[in-house]
Amino acid sequence: MKLFKKENKDFKNDFSYLDEKNIYLDSACQSLRPEPVISALEKYYKEFNSCGERVKYKWGKITDEKVNLTREKVLDYLKLKKKDYFVSFTLNTTYGLNLILSQFDVKKAKIKEIITSNIEHNSPFLSSITFAKKNNLKRKVISRNSDGSINLNDINKNSLVVLNATSNIDGRTLKNIKEAIKDVHKKGGFIIIDAAQAMAHSKEILEKAEADAICFSAHKMYAPSLGGMVIRKDFVKYIDTSFIGGGMVDDVDLETYLLSSENKEHLYTKFESGLQAWGEIIALGEAISWLENIPKTTKETMLKNEKKIFEFFEKHGTTGEIDKNIEDRRSHKTKLHLLNYEPTSTMSFYVDGLDSHLLGEALAGEGIMVRTGYFCVHYYLDHEMHFPPLVRISLSYQNTPEQIDKLLQELEKVL
Ligand SMILES: Cc1ncc(COP(=O)(O)O)c(C=O)c1O
Repeated sequence: MKLFKKENKDFKNDFSYLDEKNIYLDSACQSLRPEPVISALEKYYKEFNSCGERVKYKWGKITDEKVNLTREKVLDYLKLKKKDYFVSFTLNTTYGLNLILSQFDVKKAKIKEIITSNIEHNSPFLSSITFAKKNNLKRKVISRNSDGSINLNDINKNSLVVLNATSNIDGRTLKNIKEAIKDVHKKGGFIIIDAAQAMAHSKEILEKAEADAICFSAHKMYAPSLGGMVIRKDFVKYIDTSFIGGGMVDDVDLETYLLSSENKEHLYTKFESGLQAWGEIIALGEAISWLENIPKTTKETMLKNEKKIFEFFEKHGTTGEIDKNIEDRRSHKTKLHLLNYEPTSTMSFYVDGLDSHLLGEALAGEGIMVRTGYFCVHYYLDHEMHFPPLVRISLSYQNTPEQIDKLLQELEKVL
């Protein structure tokens, strides 16, 4: 049986349902879904809609086969080995991070501190606050360098470190991710990577990155709404299971139970409580195949689109504002401030004297869908740096050069 298409021959048709006038620039929130992904989900519902892991009839066997294949595809996509890692599914990145942090056995892991960075999404930022409070631990918030890397000197011994691989403000990546992982481990600590923004457009940074856990959201990688966790097998011993229910046990007595994850082949059940989103998991497998077969020309178009936007800001405004203090920013003569140092698929800006939400609405009137506000990075953007609410443009593979021209024409009108 051929489970996944080998290649996408007709890429353009994958978004043919979309009216070109709808200019969707909010893929950092959730991506649009290409036809093969939608078809995979529809096929599950129409042809073999069944529970996984439990049933003996034919439909269930197809579901099991395809779900297992998606687990393998996630590992292959990240170039991680099955002997070292397993994949569990959950709701989203936030849920995955909380599942790990709320069940992490600090004493067993001998952790003295939790470390995160100042440009994190609320997802790790808040969960690291509650983790520190619950476990009565110190919490340290480190600054990221302008290239996205961290200073290894900031990492103390025996720390649990939670960092994003790619920022949802300006797309900067954790450039020294591999060194950071090695360093944390050398110092007796553990590292969890928030890969929400990295999985679709900067997954190279994650390849062979041997973190203890990697959490991601399938809905930000052209797949249906779903979360995923890639977990190092030897990390599981620090998870004290308390979030529990159906699908996780092999036997139950009046006051005790036997966890299915005791069986090394079923480690993934450790985080999969209750019935899973089987169709969505299967469609994630399809999305990964699709991502791996994006035509070179489409990738080039995306890079050109990023560059064109960045150059527009270079010409009409100031770039690299993300870590400039408010006085410096005010001293810049231009009205247009781009936070990015370099073009990426995610770019955020503001215009002096113009409310970003109003600008967002004006663009929406032209069919251009951007995000406005603080994108769940309230601490850094609002309280540390005192930025006004921002406008975020996040690109994806369906965006055409004509759409970007239209966006820039509209911005020029504003200026
Ligand atoms: C960097 C980053 N981390 C975490 C999240 C949380 O993702 P989700 O809402 O899918 O849990 C997001 C969402 O935008 C994000 O951009």
